[in-house]
Amino acid sequence: MIKTKKLLCGFELPVLGQGTWGTGGRDTADPNADDEQLAAVIRHGVSLGFTRIDTAEMYAAGHSEELVGKAIEGLDRGSLFITSKVWKTHLHADDVLKAAENSLKRLKTDYMDLFLIHQVNPDVPLEDTMRGMDAVLKHGFARAIGVSNFSLQRFQKAQACSSNKLVLNQVHYNLVVRECEPDLLPWCQANDVMLEAWRPLRNLTPCPLMDEMCEKYNATAAQIALAFLLQQKNVVTITAMRSVAHMPENLAALQLSLDEEDMERLRHDYPGQLTISPTVPL
Ligand SMILES: NC(=O)c1ccc[n+]([C@@H]2O[C@H](COP(=O)([O-])OP(=O)(O)OC[C@H]3O[C@@H](n4cnc5c(N)ncnc54)[C@H](OP(=O)(O)O)[C@@H]3O)[C@@H](O)[C@H]2O)c1
Repeated sequence: MIKTKKLLCGFELPVLGQGTWGTGGRDTADPNADDEQLAAVIRHGVSLGFTRIDTAEMYAAGHSEELVGKAIEGLDRGSLFITSKVWKTHLHADDVLKAAENSLKRLKTDYMDLFLIHQVNPDVPLEDTMRGMDAVLKHGFARAIGVSNFSLQRFQKAQACSSNKLVLNQVHYNLVVRECEPDLLPWCQANDVMLEAWRPLRNLTPCPLMDEMCEKYNATAAQIALAFLLQQKNVVTITAMRSVAHMPENLAALQLSLDEEDMERLRHDYPGQLTISPTVPL
């Protein structure tokens, strides 16, 4: 079983999950996708211990959720941790609730473990959106709520608009993209909020420092990149694995323990660092 991280408030989740961006399509469903094979890959991941699955109504226009539903059919629901997200076009309160209900239908389950606001929409007042998120909890559609791609200021504002705790903020974070490090991450660590790193592995820069780490720890660059994230307080992550090939390697990364001195070197000396996400800036 994959180890978990737990907040003081009791919210707990496995540290590494399966991502589904690109599973069954990107912005729209891919008619040529091999649905059976994609669902089988997710299911295989679950059998290896990747019981946490991250998806969103926007991924493949709902088809990724359908594939997750197909993959988990017949599995023990209590052993799974399913996250989905409401897209930014559905952020008025009634639309949030409807989106959650539709996600449940596609996932073929009666609750999500975590439901997130996928991205900010400045045209919709946060008060309105948070009314919807609170209703999602009240209806039992989700066990916990949070956000994604929210700056610290926006997270605090969203929290102030809700009577329920926002347990997690999912943001672009890896060895290259460091936008959350100056304020959001330390604040989450000090305020009992989980920070989930999306895209932990893509576009890593090959460099002598990474070569040295790989040799010292007898590990791959991907394993070092995952360990760098997971060794930090309140940080969890998700990676897409559209074939089973990388699963054993990513599982083994959970056994890796980097020396504090090496964490600091990766933190300060890793080349090509960006202070703003080139994909979804906070
Ligand atoms: N909230 C948001 O706005 C947001 C945005 C983007 C992503 N996400 C979530 O975060 C998840 C992860 O992000 P991502 O999929 O964009 O990026 P990622 O996980 O950093 O990269 C995925 C790619 O890395 C490969 N990979 C996996 N393990 C590997 C290993 N050990 N060695 C080498 N390559 C490896 C995968 O290949 P294979 O497929 O061949 O295994 C896949 O092509 C998404 O799937 C999605 O669920 C959220």
